[in-house]
Amino acid sequence: HDADRTKIIEAHELTIKLYHHVLNNTKQGQAAKQYLRERGLSDKLIDHFMIGYAPEEWDVLARFLTKRGYELALMEKGGLLSAKSDGSGYVDRFRNRIMFPIWDRDGKAAAFAGRIIGEGQPKYLNTSETMLFTKSKTLYNLHYARPAIRKSKQVVLFEGYMDVIKSWSAGVKNGIATMGTALTDEHCAILRRQAEEVIVCYDGDDAGQAAAFKSIPMLENAGLKVSVAMLPKGKDPDDYISEYGPEAFLRETMDQPVSVTKFKLIYSRKNHILLKEEGRKNYLLEAVETIAELDSSTEREVYLKELSREFEITLDSLKQDCFQKRQELQKKKPQGDNNDNSWNNGRNEK
Ligand code: CTP
Ligand code: MN
Ligand code: MN
Ligand code: MN
Ligand code: MN
Repeated sequence: HDADRTKIIEAHELTIKLYHHVLNNTKQGQAAKQYLRERGLSDKLIDHFMIGYAPEEWDVLARFLTKRGYELALMEKGGLLSAKSDGSGYVDRFRNRIMFPIWDRDGKAAAFAGRIIGEGQPKYLNTSETMLFTKSKTLYNLHYARPAIRKSKQVVLFEGYMDVIKSWSAGVKNGIATMGTALTDEHCAILRRQAEEVIVCYDGDDAGQAAAFKSIPMLENAGLKVSVAMLPKGKDPDDYISEYGPEAFLRETMDQPVSVTKFKLIYSRKNHILLKEEGRKNYLLEAVETIAELDSSTEREVYLKELSREFEITLDSLKQDCFQKRQELQKKKPQGDNNDNSWNNGRNEK
């Protein structure tokens, strides 16, 4: 169905322009425009990402596409319209939403993410899966970020659209995000083809940190070198930039990524109550397990020394425990699989 695909892409390209025009030049778009301004998006940025507004009407797009000769049934298949439940025709899928066009890695428009203005559910409504749009293989902004990724061999993985956009304006040109779904092995393979290193920069809330914890071994197993740019509690990159400005974001977050080991230590630390003896003990055991996964004995010693100092435990006993953990890890490693650098050894599977 090459002809269908071409039509759907064409229709998306026209729709992007329509929504962008409505946002910028009509009264209906004013509230949306104001909302974006308040969130710190300049006109230039809005133009670059071709952000738009889908009006609060049932058939603006349906009429627009009809006038241009597009078959509405195909437009429904392409994700732009929804079929009415009584079968009497089609209505616009996106209404009263801020529209973020989604391009595929070659820059073909294939989908939208529509954000509600202000609070409400669902916050983002995405195009459903179509013949042109597969969430598990799509990375937001990859078409724009590709040159910078290839040049630096480095990619920054964010959680959300606004994080990518605001970071772009702060100078991070190699940022991408998944489509609100979890990172998949397909995403990792796509990234591996462009980059050697990934900086994971997820939201500084529990959900974001848990997602980072899950994404890290997937990225590592795809052969990428991983580090983590951490944000203060409760902030995402977009909040941080709005609050403290782009320079502070680059200086305090992007330019100081921590190693995966450090991230895991910080993460497991947060899950234990260190004021209690039990919590301290459990944290120490987890920490030693994390450190045992490091192949360099120098690196192991650096982290063990830190623990030894903080918890007033002799380096000797930490080293002994670490040695034991390493032996257990060796036993668990599948034979002949030298591609396995996963550090969690199935701990997530319980
Ligand atoms: N997401 C989604 N549908 C939702 C909520 C979230 O698809 N109902 C996806 C979006 O891709 C979003 C990402 O998950 O960008 C991260 O979610 P969240 O942190 O909640 O949203 P933000 O990106 O921070 O959105 P905003 O800044 O606009 O509030
Ligand atoms: Mn414009
Ligand atoms: Mn989030
Ligand atoms: Mn967020
Ligand atoms: Mn946000």
